[in-house]
Amino acid sequence: MVASTAHGRIRPLIDQQRLAQRVEALAAEMAARLPRDLTMLVLLKGAFVFAADLLRALAHHGFTPRVEFLRLASYGHGTRSRGRVEVIGGVPESLADRRVLVVDDIQDTGRTLARVLELLRGAGVRQVWTCALLDKPSRREVEVPLDFRGFEVPDVFVVGYGIDFAERWRELPWIGHLETEDTHPC
Ligand code: IMP
Ligand code: MG
Repeated sequence: MVASTAHGRIRPLIDQQRLAQRVEALAAEMAARLPRDLTMLVLLKGAFVFAADLLRALAHHGFTPRVEFLRLASYGHGTRSRGRVEVIGGVPESLADRRVLVVDDIQDTGRTLARVLELLRGAGVRQVWTCALLDKPSRREVEVPLDFRGFEVPDVFVVGYGIDFAERWRELPWIGHLETEDTHPC
């Protein structure tokens, strides 16, 4: 299952079955804690595959969430955050007075979620919960509590299941660690 690429190799980290099981378990945790009148706010692009599976897993628990999207960028084409989170296209207007579950792919430095929470306060959201499929706590610079998280991962650069390196590898159905020279600290 190791994929060879022009950039190096992608070593499997989380296989399809573990992803599917964890998404179902997260939906069960959410069903126990979240209100039924929920809006999922999906952070693009990285969270779109996870969010699609999570949405359908929530439906098994009787949820019929609204879905909104917010596009952000912090990486450019590198493997280290540039430390500046750019909002592309603005915050959906329909979030005012809603109960919102923010769905992200990875919590890394924490800057993205911190920025999103600030934007949501400005948008008049009634209640917010945060969820990230992956959590890299060793990289945290800004503490933002995660209400739900899929897996803790070490400080490696991951791709697959919607997550990219320079816009590639989102299509992989599993998550792997991209081994390139610049993903290893010098
Ligand atoms: P943060 O703002 O540093 O918490 O970074 C959050 C965003 O950086 C994530 O939503 C991802 O889009 C991206 N990111 C962080 N780590 C990785 C990785 O290992 N692979 C691909 N993207 C990543
Ligand atoms: Mg992201």
